[in-house]
Formats: sequence, structure tokens, C-alpha cells
Amino acid sequence: MNPVIDVRHLVKHFPLTGGLLGRKIQLLKAVDGVSLAVARGETLGLVGESGSGKSTVGNCILRLIEPDRGDILLAGQSILTLTGQELRRARRRMQMVFQDPQSSLDPRMTVKKIVGYPLEVHGLAASSAEIADRVAHLLQEVGLSSDHLDRYPHEFSGGQRQRIGIARALITEPDFIIFDEPTSALDVSVQAQILNLIKDLQRRHGYAYLFISHDLTVVRHISHRIAVMYLGTLVESATRKELFDHPAHPYTLALLASAPKPNPLLRQELAVLQGDPPSPVQVPPGCRFHPRCPHAMEICRDTEPEQHNISPTGAASPHLVCCHLYREGHRR
Ligand SMILES: Nc1ncnc2c1ncn2[C@@H]1O[C@H](COP(=O)(O)OP(=O)(O)OP(=O)(O)O)[C@@H](O)[C@H]1O
Ligand SMILES: [Mg+2]
Repeated sequence: MNPVIDVRHLVKHFPLTGGLLGRKIQLLKAVDGVSLAVARGETLGLVGESGSGKSTVGNCILRLIEPDRGDILLAGQSILTLTGQELRRARRRMQMVFQDPQSSLDPRMTVKKIVGYPLEVHGLAASSAEIADRVAHLLQEVGLSSDHLDRYPHEFSGGQRQRIGIARALITEPDFIIFDEPTSALDVSVQAQILNLIKDLQRRHGYAYLFISHDLTVVRHISHRIAVMYLGTLVESATRKELFDHPAHPYTLALLASAPKPNPLLRQELAVLQGDPPSPVQVPPGCRFHPRCPHAMEICRDTEPEQHNISPTGAASPHLVCCHLYREGHRR
């Protein structure tokens, strides 16, 4: 695979300060060694409970926040050392669509201004007529019409507003787009339309997507591969089919069991996810999942599990799982 985006051992710890002098008292380990890659035309779903670090991964990739360690390669080139003009150019090739189109669209700006703004600030269009043209074309592409150019966000429904958010992300002709819970604020019927639009756009343009969601049903609908995140680390990743047919990590099993259609075979796991995950300030030693894991063994309490590839020999894509249950080189 020749990835569009290649994230290696990404770490982001937020210092928590306290006391009169605002001294660092603790570290919140939001992202603690995450590696992932996405190819052209591919969607990687990133799934996990609230607070597991999904958005922090996305924000680091776009350098909206600076990671502490690790590397991020865009088309083979590290973007962490870029500054000025080069950084701006790299940023245009990566875009983000946010959860809440209501709050991410400026209510005082028309659609033409909102969607065309990146062209304006980066000086990517020769004239305002060209901007209007390109915006009108994009509106059609996302299922709106050029009649909407001079309207304001409040004149649209939630689904239409998310279409505007998507058009804004596409205007700089990116290679890679992060969707951070793009349909969580929408009704189920509208959700499906937006997901289909996102898929269609990928089919037409070959974008690479990182699709963040806590909802496995949504991730399943859209992803080619899925990575499961728990307390700042990836515990399992595989192709969609492999992950749903042969989920391996006890946390993934628990997530599947608490999805709307529980598998009766996995009922036993249902209790696991009751209670909140431990705090990323006090990450449990050994395997982070062991306090909630029905299969926890002695080794899980003190030794961090390594990553094992359990895919059948010869499989095109690895099935990676970080769990001591698979330490004997177990393959399917
Ligand atoms: N700027 C920040 N400063 C301090 N802590 C932060 C900051 N941003 C995120 N965190 C913490 O990092 C952890 C991971 O947060 P993040 O938003 O990445 O999780 P998430 O998986 O996207 O959750 P959700 O599903 O709720 O969006 C959380 O404990 C959060 O409180
Ligand atoms: Mg988030």
C-alpha cells in the first residue's frame, strides 16, 4: 500500500496544571502510540468510546494541535517539520468535516462565502466570479443547488448544513479528509443520505478518508478497514469483513455486543462495558483494558500486550490485535 496518510507512533499527552503556580501536576494520555495509514480511495473507520482519543488523533494529523511524538507522513513526506508556505500547502490537501454543522458554519456568512472562503484566503482563484462558479459547481456535487449561493446557514436543515460543511472541505481539492462524527447530530434517515453522499464522492474522486465515530453501525456502513481505539491506543484493526466476522479483542467483542443488534453468542460480554472507562490520567498498568476484561489473566495486570497479526496466512491485509490471549502466535 502506498498510503496517502501514514501516522506513526503518535503520542499526545495533555499536561494538567494545578496550584497557585500553575505547575504541571499530571499528564492526560489522550493518544499514546497510535499508528495508522490510509490509502487513496480507502476509508479507515476509527471507533471507540467517548474520550478514547479519536478526535485528538484527527486534530494532530491536521496539526490543529501539535503531537508530542511520532510522525505524520502525507504522500510519503513528514508534515511535522513543515512551516509557512509549505505547511499551508500541506494543510490544503487535508480537510476535516466536523460533527455539528450548526456550530462550525459562521451564521453571518452566506454559503458562497463559507464554501469559497478557503479559495479566497489562499488566493487560489483568479476572481470572485471564478470562486462563485466553483462554489456553485460543488454545491451541485453535494446535492444542493446554485440557488443556495446567497443564503445563510439558518435557512437550511441539519442535513443540508452538513452538505455545506462537506462542500467547504472539498473546495481545496484535498487528497485526505477526516470526518469527525459527521452524522451524529442528524436524524437516522438523514444520516444514511449523508453517508451515501460521502461514499459517492469517494468513488468519484478517490479521496482517502479517516472516518471517526463511536457508532459501530455507522462505521460498518462506510469503512473498508476499521481500527478500534481504547484509552489512547489501538487495540485491534482489520478489514471491515474480518473485524465483524472474526472480532478478536475482548473490547471489540464488547463494543459489538452493545451495538443496537447484539449477537446472542456474545451476550456474555454485554456486562463488560458497563461503567466508564478508566481515566486517561490514571492509565491502568499492563493491558489498559484489563480492569474491564472478562478474560483478564495474571500477565494482563503488569505487561503491556504486543501487537499480533492473527490474519490467515497469505491474507492481503493484516488483522492486528493487542491482547495477551493471542501471544502464542495464534492465527485463525
Ligand atoms: N485540549 C485538551 N486539553 C486537555 N485534555 C484534552 C484536550 N482535548 C482532549 N482532551 C482529553 O483527551 C481525551 C481524549 O479526548 P478526545 O476528544 O480525543 O476523545 P474522543 O474519542 O474524540 O471522544 P468523543 O467521542 O467524546 O468525541 C479526553 O480525556 C479529553 O478530555
Ligand atoms: Mg471526538
